[in-house]
Amino acid sequence: MEEILRMEHITKQFGSVYANRDINLEVRRGEVHTLLGENGAGKSTLMNVLFGLYQPTAGKIYLNGAPVKITSPAEAVKKGIGMVHQHFMLVEAMTVFENIILGDQRTKGIFIDKEARRKEILELAERYGLEVELDKPVTDIAVGAQQRVEILKALYRGAELLVLDEPTAALTDIEAEGLFAIIEKLKSENKSVIFISHKMREVLKVSDRITVLRAGQTVCTVSCSETDGAGLANLMMGRELTPSHYEKVEQPGEPVMALTDVSYQKAFKHSGLNGVTMQVGRGEIVGIAGVDGNGQSQLAQIVTGVLTPDEGEVDLKGSKIARFTPNGFILENVSHIPEDRNKMGLIGNMSVQDNIVLKTTEQPQFSDGHGFHLKKKAIHSYALAMQEKYDIRCESVEQEARNLSGGNQQKVILARELEGEPDLLVAVHPTRGLDIGATRYVHDAMIDARGRGCGVLLISADFDEVLEISDRIIVMFEGQIMGVYSGKNPPIEEISLAMAGK
Ligand SMILES: Nc1ncnc2c1ncn2[C@@H]1O[C@H](COP(=O)(O)OP(=O)(O)OP(=O)(O)O)[C@@H](O)[C@H]1O
Ligand SMILES: [Mg+2]
Repeated sequence: MEEILRMEHITKQFGSVYANRDINLEVRRGEVHTLLGENGAGKSTLMNVLFGLYQPTAGKIYLNGAPVKITSPAEAVKKGIGMVHQHFMLVEAMTVFENIILGDQRTKGIFIDKEARRKEILELAERYGLEVELDKPVTDIAVGAQQRVEILKALYRGAELLVLDEPTAALTDIEAEGLFAIIEKLKSENKSVIFISHKMREVLKVSDRITVLRAGQTVCTVSCSETDGAGLANLMMGRELTPSHYEKVEQPGEPVMALTDVSYQKAFKHSGLNGVTMQVGRGEIVGIAGVDGNGQSQLAQIVTGVLTPDEGEVDLKGSKIARFTPNGFILENVSHIPEDRNKMGLIGNMSVQDNIVLKTTEQPQFSDGHGFHLKKKAIHSYALAMQEKYDIRCESVEQEARNLSGGNQQKVILARELEGEPDLLVAVHPTRGLDIGATRYVHDAMIDARGRGCGVLLISADFDEVLEISDRIIVMFEGQIMGVYSGKNPPIEEISLAMAGK
């Protein structure tokens, strides 16, 4: 197979940090090439170098055998490179159509032949089986649909080499299947894909070859057929990961949280709740299964005080909640691993250590008791202990949280939310974007919290995760509860059907 891309001896430094150090990567035409590595290994950085977002400190890039300099994303696009970023880059206020044609050279000037563009886009969408609603604003479509828009946008601009940086992190299994079909189609047209994912099963399924990165360096490139999950984990982490098995709790304690007939904007099937009654007991993990966008976000926001329900009753530890405020719920000892870590979880321009103590600055351990005179030394040493405990990989706990890799940002939130010995933990996609080692750590931590009597409400689009650690499974569809199942030997077929509203 003919080579399309070669990156040679790529080094990228941020200050004293080597995000990439002497990395080599070769991608062939018609190949799906996966980049695999722990959180912070340097995958996104390498792809940002390829896409012209960063200039490498050292190293060379060759496209179709010829050396190139990629000075900007526009340049990368011109050279046939498309990229779907780890964090979406769509303009939310614009429609799908406007987003796709944004930056298209041909739409410059006064006269834009919109009808012709539409036709072209619809044909492309049809060819790849990418279902999109062109006239909807991006804010109104689900994450899976946004993903398809990003891909369509890259294809529309003529990408021959498509970079997908953790495209499945936010997708349901069904949506991911759709994406794999698109990848197959691209392959059959001799286009190349660079794929990044932490989900071993899908890596083994879609890849032709896999390049493993560790701590900014290339470990090796292997062909998919000559390796397996255990082998890859070993290459990635430098150690083996034993298979996990969690015992299921069948008799939970008294309810720590109870909802009775709770409704919220029930006219909206995808963003409302309609007569939800459920409980989470002490010492149990209740997993919500369902396709994203069936009321799960609203459920999480109600039980953390972000939203106020229109109808129904919410009880915490046996007492009815009268006022819904996030602070009130924090005082009730409810912890929250939020869905969107960039909007609700972390304050990007604050340091890692300040993010870790964000909710506890009023404790005497860290201040005079009112949150005014902070005990900086105590905060610093506490943060160092948390960095060690949660394996947060960063240069310093004093650095801004925004520069951490995706997975390491998630660990900062965990260090804050799991440490307080909560009565109720609301965990929304807690392992999204985490590598396998970190995912295991989070699962173990949730099981430990359960063991200490914490009730855990787990909301996850990852069905395997829900099955693995839930003691009970509740299926949601269009804002309603479709069924409640035991987590011990759950009827997988039946649950899958319920998730689809059947
Ligand atoms: N703009 C930046 N400034 C400083 N450090 C950075 C910057 N961007 C990335 N880094 C650092 O470079 C390293 C590699 O980060 P990168 O985002 O490439 O990792 P990754 O392999 O994509 O991880 P993940 O799986 O968590 O997304 C990390 O240690 C990160 O903190
Ligand atoms: Mg990344």
